[in-house]
Amino acid sequence: MEFITSMFYLFSSIFFIFLLHSLIKFFTSSRPKLPLPPGTLGWPYIGETFQLYSQNPNVFFASKVKRYGSIFKSHILGCPCVMISSPEAVKFVLVTRAHLFKPTFPASKERMLGKEAIFFNQGAYHAKLRKLVLRAFTPEGIKNKVSNIESIANDSLQSLEGRLVNTYQEMKTYTFNIALLSIFGEDGVLYREDLKRCYYILEKGYNSMPINLPGTLFNKSMKARKELAEIVAKILLSRRQMKKDHNDLLGSFMGDKEGLTDQQIADNIIGVIFAARDTTASVLTWIFKYLSENPSVLQAVTEEQEAIVRSKEECGEEKVLTWADTKKMPITSKVIQETLRVASILSFTFREAVEDVEYEGYLIPKGWKVLPLFRNIHHSPENFPDPEKFDPSRFEVAPKANTFIPFGNGTHSCPGNELAKLEISVLLHHLTTKYRWSVVGAQNGIQYGPFALPQNGLPIRLFLKKEATPTPKKLVPTV
Ligand code: HEM
Ligand SMILES: *[C@@H]1O[C@H](CO)[C@@H](O)[C@H](O)[C@H]1NC(C)=O
Ligand SMILES: *[C@@H]1O[C@H](CO)[C@@H](O)[C@H](O)[C@H]1NC(C)=O
Ligand SMILES: *[C@@H]1O[C@H](CO)[C@@H](O)[C@H](O)[C@H]1NC(C)=O
Repeated sequence: MEFITSMFYLFSSIFFIFLLHSLIKFFTSSRPKLPLPPGTLGWPYIGETFQLYSQNPNVFFASKVKRYGSIFKSHILGCPCVMISSPEAVKFVLVTRAHLFKPTFPASKERMLGKEAIFFNQGAYHAKLRKLVLRAFTPEGIKNKVSNIESIANDSLQSLEGRLVNTYQEMKTYTFNIALLSIFGEDGVLYREDLKRCYYILEKGYNSMPINLPGTLFNKSMKARKELAEIVAKILLSRRQMKKDHNDLLGSFMGDKEGLTDQQIADNIIGVIFAARDTTASVLTWIFKYLSENPSVLQAVTEEQEAIVRSKEECGEEKVLTWADTKKMPITSKVIQETLRVASILSFTFREAVEDVEYEGYLIPKGWKVLPLFRNIHHSPENFPDPEKFDPSRFEVAPKANTFIPFGNGTHSCPGNELAKLEISVLLHHLTTKYRWSVVGAQNGIQYGPFALPQNGLPIRLFLKKEATPTPKKLVPTV
């Protein structure tokens, strides 16, 4: 009997503990578990990568946005992710809660560009780098480089005269040379060919399989990366011996108080070249295309640029462009903005949630990727009526906050945006005042790799205009 009673007590106490546990659980988790955003994750592992890569990515994203709204879940490259396309969500992820969303890249890319480069980092180290990079690329930092940029633009265009060229390849050479100028100043010219050779090998491996065996593209890239770091070390050494201050990015990194290691400097220099070159070259290529398709816009830009040439002649000023001249280009500047919008060369960027985050009643689980969809934001008829139309005049009215973000926003937004706009404006000045060009072949395709680009890099032929100097405006006859 005694055995049965004790068993009874044992069971009832186990039952009681169980009950208590359930009750505690029930009351502490009174907040219902948040739902994930709508959408499908696709097949396990492969997810929806195949759909994304097998069709124009815009069609993929646009159909999702249409079906699920401005926030939805998907699954690409083996990672669950949340895609966002409203200005409010962009502000949340990139600006106000930026600390909850860290930048994220595949490990192989990180190894190739250098893991201490600015865009892979967060927190204090990132803030320090950002201050140094911004110092070199704010208007104050680049103002005195206008005439150097101009002579590089002038030389680049001259080298194209009469030839059939791939616009994108030629613009990559131009933007590479500008990047070297802003990073190394005069020293860049000395090492230009070596830097170019190494960088071109490095980039070939960037999209290759990350297999580090002798002979693979990846292995060659890693070798080129080492060689680049050695050239940077050489320049560092000679600058340290000269003890002269330099007004360029390397000079900013070398400041005594900054205490960056040589490795950190090399990673960031390779990183800045990477961020600066193909982006700006793609935008320039699109401008060639849009100007040739829109003769009235080309005409307006040409007149604006000729007016600058004329006003300098009338004042008897030197013919070289100044920073002030580049601020007298409102039409050109709207053409650049509209190109950044329509072409949206960076369709999206990546972040990763560092903890569970609640947004608008949805859960964004820790570790999930978050993709702000720049292109969809720029092509939403809510933000830009008749979005597929190339119409620079729409920028006569400033766009609403976080609806036009070709350079991103918040803590990781593009520190090179002023330089990019400057080098584009200066090239357009010489292009429109001295040259005409025609696009060769049927040109409607777009290639993505990884930046959106006209098919085949836009083959063109460039000619000097018959009359080298612009015709002055007709004088009103005085009677
Ligand atoms: C038109 C050309 C360019 C476009 C469209 C562009 C676009 C962008 C965007 C969207 C970001 C932010 C990415 C993100 O938030 O994940 C970014 C970051 C960055 N860009 Fe640019 N960029 C351009 C040219 C340049 C140039 C010329 C430079 C160098 C001088 C540069 C240097 C950088 C750097 C260093 C970052 C990383 C900033 C950080 O992580 O704090 N970019 N760029
Ligand atoms: C640009 O090149 C032309 C030759 O095509 C030369 O006459 C002119 O001085 C150059 N201008 C600048 C600013 O370098
Ligand atoms: C290339 O591959 C070999 C063999 O795996 C390796 O020892 C070498 O370090 C690699 N080179 C670089 C630069 O990573
Ligand atoms: C970036 O976000 C801030 C805060 O929301 C906003 O004021 C600003 O206009 C945004 N920048 C752009 C280019 O939209």
